[in-house]
Amino acid sequence: MSYDLIVIGTGPGGYVCAIRAAQLGMKVAVIEKRGSAGKQLHGGTCLNVGCIPSKALLHASEMFDEAGHGFAALGIEVSAPKLNIAAMMKHKQDTVDANVNGVAFLLKKNKIEAFHGLGTILSAGKVQVTAEDGGKQVLEAKNIVIATGSEVSSLPGVTIDEKIVVSSTGALELAGVPKKLVVIGAGVIGLELGSVWRRLGAEVTVVEYLDRILPGMDGEVAKNFQRMLGKQGFTFHLSSKVTGVKAGKTGASVSFEPVAGGEAQSLDADIVLVATGRRPNTDGLGLEAAGVAMERGKVVIDDHFATNVKGIYAIGDVVRGPMLAHKAEDEGIAVAEILAGQRGHVNYDVIPGVVYTHPEVASVGKTEEELKAAGIEYNIGKFPFTANGRARANRATDGFVKVLADKATDRVLGVHILGVGAGEMIHEAAVLMEFSGSAEDLARTCHAHPTMSEAVKEAALGVAKRAIHV
Ligand code: FAD
Ligand code: NAI
Repeated sequence: MSYDLIVIGTGPGGYVCAIRAAQLGMKVAVIEKRGSAGKQLHGGTCLNVGCIPSKALLHASEMFDEAGHGFAALGIEVSAPKLNIAAMMKHKQDTVDANVNGVAFLLKKNKIEAFHGLGTILSAGKVQVTAEDGGKQVLEAKNIVIATGSEVSSLPGVTIDEKIVVSSTGALELAGVPKKLVVIGAGVIGLELGSVWRRLGAEVTVVEYLDRILPGMDGEVAKNFQRMLGKQGFTFHLSSKVTGVKAGKTGASVSFEPVAGGEAQSLDADIVLVATGRRPNTDGLGLEAAGVAMERGKVVIDDHFATNVKGIYAIGDVVRGPMLAHKAEDEGIAVAEILAGQRGHVNYDVIPGVVYTHPEVASVGKTEEELKAAGIEYNIGKFPFTANGRARANRATDGFVKVLADKATDRVLGVHILGVGAGEMIHEAAVLMEFSGSAEDLARTCHAHPTMSEAVKEAALGVAKRAIHV
């Protein structure tokens, strides 16, 4: 069997790449190992155990929290909400199934052949598929795209059993609400899934190695957000290194000590969530034998997604850059277009990042810390949601918008939003930045009233110190 393109892995990088290649006239096959008993599951980490199930639980738990704590102030009197965790998990699973089946439909619609099994590259142009029953077949292709994503990783000496000591995958499946949840790592997973279980009633303590939460996000935003999470009931131990987790049958004990040295402490937990990052997934891919270069576990690529072996490309979590679904998707489209002789590319300066907590944190472009480190002079415009009419009406006044623009040219270099709906609002900044727009452009764009987005316009006005409503 011979194809123009074989894509290994049908996560957001792989399936989007396959569809774009098929649109461009290529004969495409995909190989995906996920699923069992003859039922293949497309959509990768994102649809099965990542973005989609986590957002289903974040939404449901936010509604639960709102019904318990937010309705009364709006004049809605209800009795205390009761949690039906089985029904909430069913909502999550139904959402996952609908999305996963949707990808199978799209692959079929685009006449992409799907092989179920482990893909192993034998050499440029040759991939072996090993099915669940051990059966093997070899496929041939002009080009191969590796889109095998990432996997859960743990800390040295910490064993994830997905029962007491869980990764994000186990944390999306808990049978009941833990009384005490200890989260190791104050990154995106720790704060999102910590939020889910905090809202449902868990006491959440986060132990983080660095002296701040959400590394990589704007420092001022992170500091304010940490204060908000504290008010919600999160406890943080920053600058703290986890040195061990001792798990028993019904709980665990987490030991940690100050990074700078000092007295060790320990915390008891019913559940421990290990959220200290993910590792690129190259297991069983045969990269070494095929001669594909790797660096610190990641597949090395050039600016056009090509590895050092002709005809083998790689995209998504398995290569450099942020581990984000939309980054993987855009790389999938770009590499398909390059293979079709077009000029596919990804603008890494404009990749939004969103933390889907309450409130949300959203960011695109450079942070203040990055601008300072690069020696770029900038102006800041900031606008608080307390001064936004719609935010008041919605009782969503926590947070602010911050616009960073080049001092000399006024070009917008970064936008950071902490607030309800930040993950939707950030995209007007992304479009603006894709067109190299200025703060003045944003400020002169008419924004509908009353919307939370008016705060974005006001922050842009603030760059030239002429915000109206503060
Ligand atoms: P993956 O989605 O990991 O897909 C790779 C696929 O390849 C997998 O299905 C795997 O089974 C398959 N595979 C691997 N090796 C082989 C092989 N040898 N043969 C055959 N198949 C193989 N990102 C966001 O942008 N927004 C979010 O809200 C978000 N939330 C997340 C929440 C959680 C809990 C987690 C864990 C991640 C989240 N992410 C989020 C990250 C996002 O899931 C990843 O960035 C994204 O899935 C990467 O896409 P990918 O296509 O590179 O790889
Ligand atoms: P992360 O890299 O975001 O955060 C890991 C945190 O753990 C860091 O703050 C790090 O300093 C800390 N840490 C590492 N070792 C530690 C130790 N020994 N003790 C204490 N703290 C320690 O990784 P995370 O949260 O696991 O997420 C993995 C990937 O998934 C991320 O790259 C993220 O982009 C992606 N993701 C994206 C989401 C989104 O876009 N909303 C949601 C969830 C995941």
